[in-house]
Amino acid sequence: MTQHAMSESSPVSTAVTIRDVTFDNPVLTASGTFGYGLECPEFVDVSKLGAVVTKSISRKPRPGNPPQRIAETAAGMLNSIGLANVGVDVFLDEKLPALREVGAAVIVNIAASSVEEYCYVLERCEEHDGIAGYEINVSCPNVKDGGLSFGTNCSAVGDITRELRKRTDRLLAIKLTPNVTSIGEFAKACEAEGADAVSCINTFIGMDLFVESRRPKIASITGGFSGPAILPMALAKVWEVRKAVDIPIIGIGGICTAEDALKFLIVGASLIQVGTALFVDPSAGVAIAEGIRNYMERHGMATTGELIGSLDTSLQPSLVAAGW
Ligand code: DHB
Repeated sequence: MTQHAMSESSPVSTAVTIRDVTFDNPVLTASGTFGYGLECPEFVDVSKLGAVVTKSISRKPRPGNPPQRIAETAAGMLNSIGLANVGVDVFLDEKLPALREVGAAVIVNIAASSVEEYCYVLERCEEHDGIAGYEINVSCPNVKDGGLSFGTNCSAVGDITRELRKRTDRLLAIKLTPNVTSIGEFAKACEAEGADAVSCINTFIGMDLFVESRRPKIASITGGFSGPAILPMALAKVWEVRKAVDIPIIGIGGICTAEDALKFLIVGASLIQVGTALFVDPSAGVAIAEGIRNYMERHGMATTGELIGSLDTSLQPSLVAAGW
């Protein structure tokens, strides 16, 4: 979110503007996969990302769920962290000033178990500078109160959006769960109540086990499933939402490379988030931002407006020629 979105050496601008926030590039970190953005300064210069989306912040500190909380699968990751976080007071006193110091644009992800609690955390954040906007987690699969019980109830998602919209002029994005039949209806509720964007998608519910012992791999038995395995499913959800609403989409789901990110942008996402890939390489987001710039240069695109939603739905000529 710096002033020099257009670099002197390149006619390409990777900048994306939503509401009054101009992101230098479309690459954000996905909540819960990059801590508070301060954990690996030796591996990544966070000021080179479009923005850091924080771990979900709640009213009170949360220890999270008992271990085992993470398991690796063939092409993804299963987790049940339970929204472990330092709570809004410590976040605002310690984490936010440090993030500002390192020059990252900051989107605060908020989790809560009631509308009042969402409002409380947002209002505390409103007292502080250095926050570009909010992403509202209505879709955590791993907590008893709130979480998916909000995210799978369209009128609850609408209520939360409306109450938060009244309380902030900052960018407001609602993070949707894919664990519903018609995600487009949820996006419409967010749009109708004044959200600036929808983040699409949170994790799918998944499960894995050890066959010899017949025991689950994580203590909560089921958890949130993420990583490259979900990319085609996430893309289809973004496509469904793109057809349902006009507000910008933040595309999320299994993005590991610039090519993956480009797919989401071409299908219609304005920004993207990198999540599980950061567990393998914390600098993946910066590499993806560079890869997007290279692609735009190769394709003679001067602005991201030429890229976003540029899907050509006609079939690849080589497949037509093959006569299948
Ligand atoms: C958690 C929260 C999420 O929103 C998610 O998709 C997966 C895990 C958690 O903190 O448990």
